[in-house]
Amino acid sequence: MDAARTVSAPENATKPADPPIIRREDYRPFDWAVPEVALDFTLGLQATQVRARLSLRRNEGVTADRIRLNGDGLTPVAVKVDGEASNSWAMDGSDLIIALNGDMHEVEITTAINPAANSQLMGLYASNGMLCTQCEAEGFRRITFFPDRPDVLSTYRVHMSGDKTQFPVLLSNGNCTAKGEAADGTHWAEWHDPWPKPAYLFALVAGELVARHDQFTTMNDRVVDLGIWVRPGDLDRTEHAMESLKRSMKWDEDAFGREYDLDLFNIVAVSDFNMGAMENKGLNVFNTKYVLADAETATDGDYDAIEGVIGHEYFHNWSGNRITCRDWFQLSLKEGFTVLRDQLFSQDMGSEPVKRIEDVRVLRSAQFPEDSGPLAHPIRPDAYREISNFYTATVYNKGAEVIRMMRSIVGPERFRAGCDLYFERHDGEAATCEDFVRAIEDGAKIDLTLFRRWYSQAGTPKVTVRLEQDGDAAVLHLAQQVPATPGQPDKQPMPVPLRIALFDRASGTHAGERLIVLEDGSASFRFEGFAERPILSLNRGFTAPVSIDRDVAREDLEFLAAHDDDPFARYEAMQDLVVGHLTAAADGRLAEGDRPGQRAAIGRALGGVLADAGLDDLMRGELMILPSQTYLAEQLATSDPAAIHAEREGLKAWLGHELQDALLAMHARASAVPFSLDAEARGARKVKTQALVYLAAAAPDRAAELAAEQYDSADNMTDRQGALMVLTGLESPHRTHKLIDFYNRYRDNPLVIDKWFALQAQSLHPQAIEHVKALALHPDFTLRNPNRVRSLYMAFAANPHAFHKPDGEGYRLIADLILALDPINPQTAARFVPPLGRWRRFDAARAALMRGELERVAAAEKLSRDTFEQVERSLG
Ligand code: ARG
Ligand code: ZN
Repeated sequence: MDAARTVSAPENATKPADPPIIRREDYRPFDWAVPEVALDFTLGLQATQVRARLSLRRNEGVTADRIRLNGDGLTPVAVKVDGEASNSWAMDGSDLIIALNGDMHEVEITTAINPAANSQLMGLYASNGMLCTQCEAEGFRRITFFPDRPDVLSTYRVHMSGDKTQFPVLLSNGNCTAKGEAADGTHWAEWHDPWPKPAYLFALVAGELVARHDQFTTMNDRVVDLGIWVRPGDLDRTEHAMESLKRSMKWDEDAFGREYDLDLFNIVAVSDFNMGAMENKGLNVFNTKYVLADAETATDGDYDAIEGVIGHEYFHNWSGNRITCRDWFQLSLKEGFTVLRDQLFSQDMGSEPVKRIEDVRVLRSAQFPEDSGPLAHPIRPDAYREISNFYTATVYNKGAEVIRMMRSIVGPERFRAGCDLYFERHDGEAATCEDFVRAIEDGAKIDLTLFRRWYSQAGTPKVTVRLEQDGDAAVLHLAQQVPATPGQPDKQPMPVPLRIALFDRASGTHAGERLIVLEDGSASFRFEGFAERPILSLNRGFTAPVSIDRDVAREDLEFLAAHDDDPFARYEAMQDLVVGHLTAAADGRLAEGDRPGQRAAIGRALGGVLADAGLDDLMRGELMILPSQTYLAEQLATSDPAAIHAEREGLKAWLGHELQDALLAMHARASAVPFSLDAEARGARKVKTQALVYLAAAAPDRAAELAAEQYDSADNMTDRQGALMVLTGLESPHRTHKLIDFYNRYRDNPLVIDKWFALQAQSLHPQAIEHVKALALHPDFTLRNPNRVRSLYMAFAANPHAFHKPDGEGYRLIADLILALDPINPQTAARFVPPLGRWRRFDAARAALMRGELERVAAAEKLSRDTFEQVERSLG
């Protein structure tokens, strides 16, 4: 490489320092506009050559004599400026600096990459013999040198050529404008995307693929060709994805007035993928997990997840692509909003209350712990070292909750007006969260000055509730406290919208619900006309993502669990009954004399749920699910996972015993419902396995027989997996037989084999940790496939009784995994740090062991930026 004379690179770049901290306040626009990009790929699995031609226009007021182009692991093979070979360039770390003195230039850069060696799965990589890309957030710089930041928007022309038999299908963003063949066995295609986009939305796919084709006619009668591309053999498992896509396109027109804007929309399924899916313009790339389904191999949950993710990526076309993010601190602008959009879509396609409960369960099990731990950050973070670490439940799920609160406060119509204004005002731009809030303010006519704190403050607010009787009035006293989080010791109150109802004790009814907003640290609300203290139903529909601390009588919770007309509040009352009992018991605060009475109350409530003819089974199934161990632990400052586990299992066994007849009857009734995908049959499958879960704790032999029967007679994956899930937790010959049967039946289907790994790693079996160690040596296990890694180790890390073994073996296993995976796939490796990072929340012995494993990881000779940052914050 020629040393550049006109550009000086900083000296002394030998010793790698800590990765730099990027700060939101340091945002500056880029010096150059890049209106057009032409990319020319000569494809090969081991060697791909990329020639990138960028048109550059100096932005007004910029005097710099150079341009900085980001790279990651690249060396330039050739650099041309305005058509002439140039040596006026230098490397600065991994970036390329080119000297440029004029206002308009064209630079052409050639790079050579090895997709087969790309185990990080960022940039251009090989998966199953095909080539595909993942560029968000900063993968494009692993393909070519480029201002790899979301506020540089360009139109792309892509030319690619490659071996015809190896890569029969050649796809990129936008429309295919030309294709042809050469005499040497290669062929080529040209693609053009008319919509300016940031580099993170670029995509290319080449390989042996087949498509399910369909069409969608938009609200303005434009016909869009749809294609879902998969490996040959997988085509008959794409119908649900295609139906979901068409429903998404229609729903976005109806619910948000958003029409699709290209003649073509393609989805490609790849089996090696770090996340769920990616919204590349006109060419979404998906994890196979969120595309492929049929009744034999996918559960009802899988069907729902596919519909949700297809919707999510499709909705990004407006909330993400037409309006993108100015910088990555604004990630929640597109992700929070798009999660809200996919949640509303799924609510409309299925059961609204059940979907709401599921979403709250995810928030509480994934986001609340994040918000109360060392990795807590606001939905709009202020600083990062590696942006991949901020694709979090906070940015996504809490981000959605924050926007949902705005919608609850102003109502759906005014919220829609705010969204319309947002899309109109910022179409074609790289925008900020502040732009979004201002559009909602102007469009919905509301002042969100205080509400903005939800964007800047981390931590789950705790709302303390007291209901007091004052003559003929009920007075509701509310106070909030936002806990300190790393870097944010002092917090200010945030507006908390709460939908409430007051049940009259005598009649058991309420006179309508209302929305109150707690704006300050504390406030009181007076409700006239109650001769005696009413029963309070609060945060109905989970209008605010807060935790509630209230002194409520168990009889009142029992009443609400049986009678609340808001399905979420009814579920919540059930949960509260159990949470109050189990946390007290696990924390040693329960007088033994109180146990029978508390169990009896829970038994009555659950018995009522089993018997209630007014409930559909999907909802009944939700009400039957006990609060997770993680959620229970979250309620305690520090906890002993073994104690929580023992209490929770003990309660389950007691309930299973107490309600045995009803559970057996329910299992029999549900087993008689024939398979279909309608709500009734899905509900039957849900309660069927739930019944087994309780019976397994109470009467393991009987449950094992029933589960084996359910397994053998299953004509769908939901029943089969449910039965096997119960069996893997039991000591029974059926356990061994059915695990072998399942493996042999599905050995050629990686997504189902993932389930086989996960079921064993998350099982209640006392030897689960030994099973995990053995499975890590199974020939089907590999660190190179993220789905497989997650199916074994993420399932294990989420299995408290196994992960938190008192000897620390579980912690050691995860730390070993992080160290082994980090050099291969840092993004996925870093995702395993948070389970260890929660060490402060456990008893002293476990805390020391967890911390010790984090320190062992920290001491590794070489760590990726991803893992370094997560370990540093977790120890901090
Ligand atoms: N934007 C994608 C989504 O829909 C997520 C992609 C993130 N990818 C990554 N490697 N961090 O949520
Ligand atoms: Zn997204």
